[in-house]
Amino acid sequence: MSKKHTVILQPSGRRGQVDEGMSVRAAARELGVEIESICAENATCGKCMVLVEEGRFEKYNIDSKREHLSPIGTEERAYLMRRPKLLQSKGWEIGQVRLSCQCKVLGDVLINVPEESRGNKQIVRKTARERAIEIKPSIRKYYVSMVPPNIERPIADWERLAKGLETSMALVHGPEAKLPRWFDLRIDYQCLRSLSSTLRAANWNVTVSVWQDKEVIEVQPGYVEESYGAAVDIGSTTVALYLCNLRTGELLAAESEMNPQIVYGEDVMSRIQYAIEHPDGLEKLHKAVIATLNKLLKQAAKTAQIKTEEILEMVLVGNSTMHHLVLNLHPKDLGLAPFVPAIHSSVDIKARELGLQINPSGNIHVLPTIASFVGADTSAMILAEEPHKQDENWLLIDVGTNAELVLGNRKRLVCTSTPTGPALEGAHVEYGMRAAPGAIERVQIDENTLEPKYKVIGVDGWNTDHTEFKGQVKGICGSAIIDAVAELFRVGIVDSRGRFKKGLSSNRVREGENGWEYIIAWADETSIGRDIPMTQQDVRQIQLAKAALFTAARTLLKRTGLQSPDKIILAGGFGSYIDKEKAMLIGLIPDCELEKVYAIGNAAGDGARIALLNVEKRNEIDSVTRQVERFELPTDPEFQNQFMLATSFPHMSEPFEHIAHLIPNRVADPMAKNFMK
Ligand code: FES
Repeated sequence: MSKKHTVILQPSGRRGQVDEGMSVRAAARELGVEIESICAENATCGKCMVLVEEGRFEKYNIDSKREHLSPIGTEERAYLMRRPKLLQSKGWEIGQVRLSCQCKVLGDVLINVPEESRGNKQIVRKTARERAIEIKPSIRKYYVSMVPPNIERPIADWERLAKGLETSMALVHGPEAKLPRWFDLRIDYQCLRSLSSTLRAANWNVTVSVWQDKEVIEVQPGYVEESYGAAVDIGSTTVALYLCNLRTGELLAAESEMNPQIVYGEDVMSRIQYAIEHPDGLEKLHKAVIATLNKLLKQAAKTAQIKTEEILEMVLVGNSTMHHLVLNLHPKDLGLAPFVPAIHSSVDIKARELGLQINPSGNIHVLPTIASFVGADTSAMILAEEPHKQDENWLLIDVGTNAELVLGNRKRLVCTSTPTGPALEGAHVEYGMRAAPGAIERVQIDENTLEPKYKVIGVDGWNTDHTEFKGQVKGICGSAIIDAVAELFRVGIVDSRGRFKKGLSSNRVREGENGWEYIIAWADETSIGRDIPMTQQDVRQIQLAKAALFTAARTLLKRTGLQSPDKIILAGGFGSYIDKEKAMLIGLIPDCELEKVYAIGNAAGDGARIALLNVEKRNEIDSVTRQVERFELPTDPEFQNQFMLATSFPHMSEPFEHIAHLIPNRVADPMAKNFMK
C-alpha cells in the first residue's frame, strides 16, 4: 500500500489524505478543488501556480514544509525563472511558489491556491436551436395482443410475439409496405431474458419497441405511446446532451458539462499522447467520458421526469479523437502518419457494451468520420447545414483548437482540417482563459485616446468608467482576444505585420516583461492584482492561428477554383461569440460579404438531433461523407508560402474588399512578392 499524506487546500479548506507521489494538482482535484491548466500539465502555461505554506499548523495537526513536495525540476524552474517581475510583484519566491502540475506530494502540506489559479466552471455555451425536423425515428412502437398459449398450440413466446408483431406492423404501415416476415424479425438477448415473464404479467397485451423495424429491443406491458432518445455532441471541451421525445421530436432537456478528459490534456493531440504514454490511458479517457454521459443522462431524465431505462437510443457525434475514445478505440493512429481512423462508417452498438446507462438493449448510433481530424462532428455539421443540397458554394468552419472546414455545393464537397492551436480559445495567451465569469469577452479601443472599454462575463454592460469593474476581471477569453487584436490593428497600435508601434502617446502601450504590450485592464480592475495586457507574443499566437485557418480555407477555395465562398457559416461555440467583422479584419476568415457570414451555434449538436429523429438522415450522411474529398494541408506544395502571406493583418496580398474601409493606411507589403510564386 502506498504511503498517504495530508494535503490541506486554502482558501477552500478542503483537506484529505492522498497517495505519496501524486501531483498537487491531481491531489487538489481528488479533494474537490479544480486548479487551472491550459497546457495539459506541460509546465508551460503557469496557470496552476500554488503557494506552499510553511510551519506548524496546530489546527490541522501538521507540519507543512517546502521539502514535503518533490524538488523543482528543470522545466518548472525554467518557467518560474522567466517570470521574475511577476514573482517580485507578488512577493513570491521560487520554492514557495510551485507549479502544481509538476510538484509531487512527499509529506503533509498546506497549499494556498491563489485566485488566478482557481478553476472556474466554464460557461457552457451549447444550446439547442429550434429547427424543423421531419420525424422518422429508428424506433417504432407497436401494440400486440396475443392469444395465450395452450396445449393445442404450444408455440414459444418469441415466435408468438413475432407473429403478432408481423400483423401489427402490417396494420400500421399498410399492405404496400415492405416489411420483414415474422421469422426474419429478431429480439435482443437482454430483452429475451425478461420476455416470458413480461408477456404473462401483461396478460399477453404488450407494446413492442422495434429498432429499424427488424429488432425488438423492449417489450412493455399494456399500451405505451412514448419513447425517448438522446443526441450528444462530445466536444473536446464540452459535452452537450439533448433528450428528445422520439414520437414528437420535442426537446425535453438539454444538459451540458465540461469534458472531464480535459484533465488528461487540453487538446486532442495531448489526449492521444496521454493514451499512448499511459498503459491505462485509453481506459481512463474512455471511462471519464462515459461517466459524464451517464451523469448527463440522469440529469436530463430527471428534468424530463422519465426513467433513464426509457431512453432507447442515443446518437453520438464528436471529432475523430472523441469518437475513438467514447468507443474505446485506441486513438494512436489518428496522431501518427498516415493518420487514419479505425473506421469511417457509422457505428451501431448496444448501450450495455459501452456502459451507457439507458435501456441496456438500446442502440448507440455514432455518425461517420471523414478523416483523421475531420470527425463525426463535421458529418453532423454537414447534416445540419446541408451544403450538399445547395447551388451556392458554402464554406462551413468549425473552430476550436483544431478547425474543420467544408466547402462546396451539391456537385462537390471538399474538406480539410488544421490545428489552430489553443490561442483562439484563450490558451497560450498570457492572460487568456476560458469563457467563464470574470473573463473579458468584448474589447473596443478608442482610435483617438487609445483607451479601451470592455465587457466582462457575469457583469452587465460596458466598463465605460474603469472604476465600475474594480476587482472583477480575471483574464481574457477567445472572443475578446480576437476583438483586442483587431482593435489594436484598426487603431494603429500594431501594424499589419503584427508589430507594436513605439512612441505612441498612451501609457497603455509600454514595454513589459515580455516585450511590448497594451494594457486592457489595470491591476485594480482585476481580481488577480495584475495588469492584464495583450502582449506582442499574444498577437503572434493569434497570427499563427489565424494564418493556419485562412490558409486552410484558401486551399479549399483554390482546389475548387473559387475566389471566395458565397456564404461562410461559423459553427461551434467560438463561432457564435466572435465579432465577424473583427474576425475578417484580422484575416481569420476569407473575404466575403459580411451579411453572408453566419454563426449557427452548435451545428454538431443539431446534426446529432436530426440523425436521432430521422433515421433516413443517417443513410443520407453516410452516403454524403463517402463522397467528400479530403485534402491534407501539409502535402499542399504552396502551403508554407500561403501561410506566410496569411500571417499579416488581414493578409499580405489579398485585398479584403469588404472590410477595406477598416484597414488603416493600406500600402502594399514589399515582403509579399517573396511568397507569391
Ligand atoms: S504549467 Fe501547470 S498546468 Fe500548465
